[in-house]
Amino acid sequence: MITEDLNLFLSNLNVFYRKLQNYHWNIKGEDFFNVHAKLEELYDDINEQIDEVAEHILIIDGQPLGTMSDYLEITQIKEAQNEKICSKKIFETILKDYCILSENATKVKEDADNEKKYATSALMDEYLSDYGKKIWMIRQYLMQ
Ligand SMILES: [Fe+2]
Repeated sequence: MITEDLNLFLSNLNVFYRKLQNYHWNIKGEDFFNVHAKLEELYDDINEQIDEVAEHILIIDGQPLGTMSDYLEITQIKEAQNEKICSKKIFETILKDYCILSENATKVKEDADNEKKYATSALMDEYLSDYGKKIWMIRQYLMQ
């Protein structure tokens, strides 16, 4: 079901938002200033996507999940701990998280295409190129 897949995606986005801001607060090390600012940029993007996905669920006559307990029940993204963390560990973790989000968007797109819901499919295209670019950049960052 597209709405169920979108709600899973929405849950992952919400947990990921909290995780990115947690990292923004707890980043330590010599590249603090760059990464602190970059993380804010990343969670701002995710925040926009949260609103778009929830509203899209309503547009297609579904009901978006709206509580943290709903999100935590089904999320595939693991929360971050309350502890200082270096940028390498942050990017290794969020690389995997972006891959999960990309898989979510792919699944929604495949189902949407099968059901001829092309607006949903087109929305997923935006996310797939966004995540694709971020995954590429994070891999470049992690390269030695
Ligand atoms: Fe801040």
